[in-house]
Order: sequence, then structure tokens, then C-alpha cells
Amino acid sequence: MNAEFVKLEFDGPIALVTIDRPKALNALNLQVLAELDAAISQVTANPDARALILTGGGEKAFVAGADIGEMANYTTTQALAFATRGHQVLGRLEALPIPTIAAVNGFALGGGLELALACDLIYASEKAKLGLPEVSLAVIPGFGGTQRLTRLLGRARAKELIFTGDPIDGAKAKELGLVLEVVAPDALMVRCKEVAQKIASRGPVAVSQAKRVIEAGADLPLKDANELERQAFGLLFGTEDQREGMRAFVEKRKAAFKNA
Ligand code: CAA
Repeated sequence: MNAEFVKLEFDGPIALVTIDRPKALNALNLQVLAELDAAISQVTANPDARALILTGGGEKAFVAGADIGEMANYTTTQALAFATRGHQVLGRLEALPIPTIAAVNGFALGGGLELALACDLIYASEKAKLGLPEVSLAVIPGFGGTQRLTRLLGRARAKELIFTGDPIDGAKAKELGLVLEVVAPDALMVRCKEVAQKIASRGPVAVSQAKRVIEAGADLPLKDANELERQAFGLLFGTEDQREGMRAFVEKRKAAFKNA
């Protein structure tokens, strides 16, 4: 992939994706979205990838939002197409079968916070500032923020953040349940890699089934959601890894999983 603004590296089982456009605080324009889409395709095609970490290049930002300069003169038709593209790419990120971790190393505003919200887990540095400031530009979040933030925090908290547009720091975001942990800037990637490695050491089919039933079940009545879990639990007993995992426990040794 010949990407200018999105870097993809594999570190063993971990895919590391960096939005790297520091001059614009990693703002998302159509090119960045296309490159992110291509990176997601490459991760999907790598059978050895077990977790993905997404972060921002440079010292200041995770992603400071959609590119305001590019959007400023959009017509309604262009704005709809831009939102469609954003939803499509973030939807593909969310639908990856492996767990995804947002390492929020600075500003995560607007489309940047929406990108983090499309990840499974969010960890933040002490320098992070998170928010949905779109109403100060007289628009609303366009890449899923009104919906994903509301599902995560509840309506009142999401409304406060969206109506005021005020950013919050990592400590407040942790208090609200938006981020899981806040760590020193130097420790952020170490911590995210530690979590990713731990996930990568577990039964891969089981991890991806856990993600699938959590996500699919979230929009269903409990009875139907529990049925998804029941089915997946049963199906996992048809995998080699289930045999290996339980045999290794009985034999008091480390399991060697094959993703099969
Ligand atoms: N789009 C385009 N360029 C951006 C940008 C964005 N979202 N955010 C920052 N930049 C650019 C700035 O224009 C500036 O470029 P120049 O050096 O060429 O002037 C460069 O990045 C550095 O930014 P600042 O000089 O503003 O840095 P700062 O430290 O003074 O402020 C900031 C940092 C508070 C994050 C400020 O840049 C800011 O408020 N950015 C905009 C945040 C925002 O409103 N995001 C939401 C966008 S709308 C959206 O995302 C819609 C959606 O839901 C899809």
C-alpha cells in the first residue's frame, strides 16, 4: 500500500495503524479515509493479526476531527457523501473480527472521537482531550458520534457533551466510562500493546466470537442476545482450539492455539 497519511505495521500478532498527518493534527479528509479503508482491508487479509491498535502520529493529536478546510464549502450532496464514507470506513473498523484498541494520545475531537468510538477499547494519555465540538461549527457529529457515544454513556451524558461541544480530559472521560485507563504519555503505547498481547494469547476464535455476540447482542432483546451467546458457546466446542485449551489446562501447560 502506498499510503501518505495512514501507516500500517505488524508487530507479531498486533496490527498498528497510525493516522499520520500531524500538520493538520491528523484530520480526516477523503484521502485519509481511503487510506484507512485500505489499511483495514490489509488487516482483514492477514490471518495472523489478533488485535489492532489505532493511534495518531506526532505529539499533539490522536485525530482532531474531520478536515474542516475540506468540508467548509461542501454542498448538502457532498456532505452526505462524506458522512456516508465516514460511516462506511468506521463501520468496517467496528466490524473487524479482531479486537481494536484506540490509543488516544492527544486531541480526539469530532471525527477523531468518533473514530475512537468505533474501536472496542479506548485508552488515553494524560494529554488527551476528547470531545464532539461540531455544534461550534454549526453542524453535528457526522461519523456516528450521536449514536455510539449515546449508546456508550447514555443519553444525558452524550447530550451534555454534544450540546456544549466542550472537550473533556482523560480523567473525566474515565469517570464517565468513555476511556478505560489514563496513563502517562510515554506509557500509553506500552499499555495498549500489553493489552493487545494478552488478547492475542487467548483462543482467537473465542475472542472473535465474544466480540461478535457482544456487538450483535447489544441491539437485541436480552432473550435473543442470550440465544446468540448459547449458539456461539456450543459452536466453539467444534474448534481444535477448544480441545487444545482445555487439554492444556488439564495437563498444566500453556495452550498453543491455531485459530482453528
Ligand atoms: N481540520 C483541518 N485542519 C485542522 C483540524 C481539523 N479538524 N484541526 C486542526 N487543524 C489544523 C489547523 O488548521 C492548523 O493548521 P495550520 O498550522 O495550517 O494553521 C494545525 O492543524 C494545528 O492546529 P492549531 O494551530 O489550531 O493547534 P492548537 O493547538 O492551537 O489547537 C485544536 C488545537 C484545539 C485541536 C484546534 O486545532 C481545533 O479546535 N481543531 C478543530 C477541532 C474540531 O472542531 N473538530 C471537529 C471537526 S468537525 C467533524 O469532525 C465532523 C464530523 O463529525 C465528521
